[in-house]
Amino acid sequence: MSERTYNITVIPGDGIGREVIPAAVAALEATGRSFHYTYADAGWECFQRNGTALPDQTLAAAQAADAVLFGAVASPSFPVVGYRSPIVALRRALDLFANIRPVSGGRADLVVVRENTEGLYSGRERVSDDGNTAITERVITRQASERIVRLAFDLARTRAAKHVTIVHKANVLRETCGLFRKVALEVASEYPTIRYDEMLVDNCALQLIQRPERFDVVVTTNLFGDIISDVASYWGGGLGVAVSANIGTTRALFEPVHGAAPDIVGQGIANPLAAIGCAALLLEYLGEHAWAERVRNIVTEAISEGPQTPDLGGSATTAQVTAWVVDRIGRAN
Ligand code: NAI
Ligand code: MG
Repeated sequence: MSERTYNITVIPGDGIGREVIPAAVAALEATGRSFHYTYADAGWECFQRNGTALPDQTLAAAQAADAVLFGAVASPSFPVVGYRSPIVALRRALDLFANIRPVSGGRADLVVVRENTEGLYSGRERVSDDGNTAITERVITRQASERIVRLAFDLARTRAAKHVTIVHKANVLRETCGLFRKVALEVASEYPTIRYDEMLVDNCALQLIQRPERFDVVVTTNLFGDIISDVASYWGGGLGVAVSANIGTTRALFEPVHGAAPDIVGQGIANPLAAIGCAALLLEYLGEHAWAERVRNIVTEAISEGPQTPDLGGSATTAQVTAWVVDRIGRAN
C-alpha cells in the first residue's frame, strides 16, 4: 500500500523564523511519514528584495498546500509605503478565521480562540493631511463573530471542563464589542451543555495570571486575542514554546506565537520547541493523530527534562534541543 504524501508549504520568513522552522521540518521528517515541501518567501527581507512582502507565488503555494508551516516575519513599527504584514494578509487571503492558541503547564490548561480576520487588524487606517490625527477602523461583523464563537463552543464540547469565557470590552466599545457580545450570547444559548461566562478584557489579563485554572476556552476579538495569548503563554513556558494554529474552512497554517526575535537572531539559541509544537498541530490537522500525540508529548518532555535554551533558563543551543527531540521521535518510529 503506498502511503500518502502531504504537500507542505514552508515559509520561514525573517529572523529566528529561519532558525526554528528547520527544526520543525526535521521533526516532521523524523516521523517517517511522507512529506513534500515547497519553500516560499515572505516578510521584511523579501520586501526589500522584491518590493512585496507576500509574493504571488507564495500565496499560490500556500493555497495549493495541504498545510502551511510559517516561522515569523519582522514588520517595521513605522509605516513603509507598500508594506503590509504578510501574516495578516495570508490569514485573510486563506480565510483562516480562527487562531487557536493552546496553553498547558503550571496552573493553566486553556485555549485562546482569537478571531483572525477583522477587528482592529482590519487594515483600514488613515491619517489626516497634517499628520496629526490617525485613525484605524475596528470592524466587527455578525458573520465573523458567529463563526469564531461557534468554533469556541464546538471546541469546548471536546474538552473536560466544557467552559467558554467570552472576552470583550463592551462597556466602552459599545458598538463593536457590543455586537460581538450579543452574537456570542446568542450562540451560547444554542449550547445548553456548555457553561459560559463573560469578562472584560483588562480583568481577563489579570485573571489569567491570578486564577488561570478558572479558564478553559477563551474566545475574543483579534487584538485582544493577540495580547491575552501572550499573557497566557507564561504558564506554558513563555513565547519560546507557545504554538498556534490558524484554521479556516479549507486551509490551515501553523506558526509559533513568537515573532522574529531580533534581539537573539544569529546566536543559535532560539528555542525551537514552539515551532516543533506547531509541527505536532500540523500532524493533528492532517489526521496523523498518533504522531501528533507522540510529538506533542516529546515536546512536553523536552520542556521539563530536555536540554533548555536560555529563555527556559538553560544554556543549550537550538541545534542541541532539536537533536534531542528528533532522536526521541526517531525512536518512536
Ligand atoms: P518576539 O516574539 O519576536 O520576541 C519577544 C521576546 O521573546 C524577545 O526577547 C525574544 O528574544 C523572545 N523570544 C521570542 N521567541 C523566542 C524563541 N523561540 N526562543 C527564545 N526566545 C524567544 O516579539 P517582538 O520582539 O515584540 O517583535 C519582534 C519582531 O517580530 C517585530 O518585527 C514584530 O513585528 C515581529 N512579530 C512577528 C510575528 C509573526 O510573524 N507572527 C508575531 C510577533 C512579532
Ligand atoms: Mg502576538
